[in-house]
Amino acid sequence: MKTATLLLLAGLGATASIAQAADRDVTAHLQRCADCHGADGLSTAMPSNGRIAGQHREYLVYILKQYRTGGIRGLNSGIMSNAVRHLDDADIEAIAQHYSTLP
Ligand code: HEC
Repeated sequence: MKTATLLLLAGLGATASIAQAADRDVTAHLQRCADCHGADGLSTAMPSNGRIAGQHREYLVYILKQYRTGGIRGLNSGIMSNAVRHLDDADIEAIAQHYSTLP
């Protein structure tokens, strides 16, 4: 279902690289994100995790790569670094595309 949504969005005129990323099935990754940020990306249960729904795709790609490389160091940044350590660039693109389209 989420994959279908991503593929649909890709078909609505996204760039080639996004379309490629959207071919990725990131459903399992999104379920882990949802554990801490909620399925809607609003982090209602844990507000200090930050809202990620509706965020700019470019920012999400940037910040997720920062967490992946340990470029961000803060009180809870290790939690996020662990959450994205295993993701490759195409995973991050597809995940960012997903959250950027949520209200
Ligand atoms: C185990 C809990 C946990 C998981 C799993 C998790 N996050 Fe996070 N996330 C956090 C916490 C805690 C922070 C705040 C980190 C800090 O203090 O720097 C955060 C911060 C973020 C931010 C930065 C928000 C901002 O406004 O800058 C983004 C974006 C984000 N997470 C996206 C994701 C995505 C996408 C996934 C799935 C791949 C994910 N997170 C998985 C707990 C989690």
